[in-house]
Amino acid sequence: MSEQTITSHAWQFDGYGRPDEVLNWRPQSLSPPGPGQALVRLHAIGMNRSEFNYVQGRYQPARAFPSCIGQEAVGEIVAQGTPGGDGPAPWSKSPLEVGARVALLPGRIDLCSTGAYRDVGCYPQNALLPVPEDYSDAEGAALWMGVLTMGGALELAGITPETARGKTLLVTAASSSMGVVVLKLARAWGATTLATSRSAAKISMLSTLADQAFVAHDGDSLAAGIAEATGGAGFDAALDPVGAAFYPALVSSAAIGASIVSYELITGQDTPLPIAKVMIKDLALRGYTIYRPLRQPALLERILGWGLKYAADIRPIIAGTRALSDAPAALEELGRAEHLGKLILDCNK
Ligand SMILES: NC(=O)c1ccc[n+]([C@@H]2O[C@H](COP(=O)([O-])OP(=O)(O)OC[C@H]3O[C@@H](n4cnc5c(N)ncnc54)[C@H](OP(=O)(O)O)[C@@H]3O)[C@@H](O)[C@H]2O)c1
Repeated sequence: MSEQTITSHAWQFDGYGRPDEVLNWRPQSLSPPGPGQALVRLHAIGMNRSEFNYVQGRYQPARAFPSCIGQEAVGEIVAQGTPGGDGPAPWSKSPLEVGARVALLPGRIDLCSTGAYRDVGCYPQNALLPVPEDYSDAEGAALWMGVLTMGGALELAGITPETARGKTLLVTAASSSMGVVVLKLARAWGATTLATSRSAAKISMLSTLADQAFVAHDGDSLAAGIAEATGGAGFDAALDPVGAAFYPALVSSAAIGASIVSYELITGQDTPLPIAKVMIKDLALRGYTIYRPLRQPALLERILGWGLKYAADIRPIIAGTRALSDAPAALEELGRAEHLGKLILDCNK
């Protein structure tokens, strides 16, 4: 690579606010890839609720302004630095070479400086993942956040390929891009799956992905739905991003010895903890973020391995594809939560 800087373009914001008010498409100078880095031209970008929240100051604080956004994408390596740095990770499988199709590993790229809502980005090689061969770019851009988040949350809840059979798993807010992945993964492993949505319109689609699906918009409807779906037996594990009024209902509806894993608080509301029931029912309450496997190399490799081994079973559902140039409007659309599965930004539109 020459020492000349590379001009990329990225969506950036200078202060918190609504996506359609604060995001700007701007040129950004990049240095040529250094040792252990790769320059990647992005083709498709997976959209996550964290981006909608990040722009509004409801996610991790921006390290600096202006900040870029985005964590998940698929692209093609167009240049590489000299060997060095941490080098490719053990799970990169295919050689990292110019022309290779790669995905970004959420949580390992610097959101602020090289966030994925862009055309070209410079990334450490150990932040690059393979894309299942028969996946489209959009499907590849919708895979890894789901695998990392929900594979890790399942493992924490004690549900793995070896243990899933015979267990009942509840997935709340299951129409999300995360929910779709975990329903497919747990079904491939043999668990019985229950799915909830606030929206009656999403239930027929969710019924094709889960053994049972029902509307739950508050604690009472959630408890009633679980009781009916399990004949009063309760669930063995629940993955929940809602918290708030859902939480006491989850505790009341859990089977003895069940696990409840919280991986977000969508409403941001306080969550009551009925500790007496937790004790009496011998429940395991856990919190989860993708930083758990990112801190544990062996666990990370295990979870990413599931993404490749079960790629045919967990092919993502693409809710819609929008042009990268329409990212602010697409984020507003994501905020309305009318989609089921993953919204994608197409860099070539
Ligand atoms: N802990 C982690 O490391 C981690 C990593 C990735 C994602 N997450 C979290 O996982 C969740 C799903 O992410 P995603 O990107 O897949 O989200 P998404 O596609 O935007 O889906 C979120 C879904 O949550 C449901 N929901 C329930 N209550 C809601 C409310 N008050 N406001 C808005 N939506 C509500 C909606 O489904 P219905 O309308 O069908 O109910 C909505 O479709 C997000 O909360 C995200 O922050 C956490």
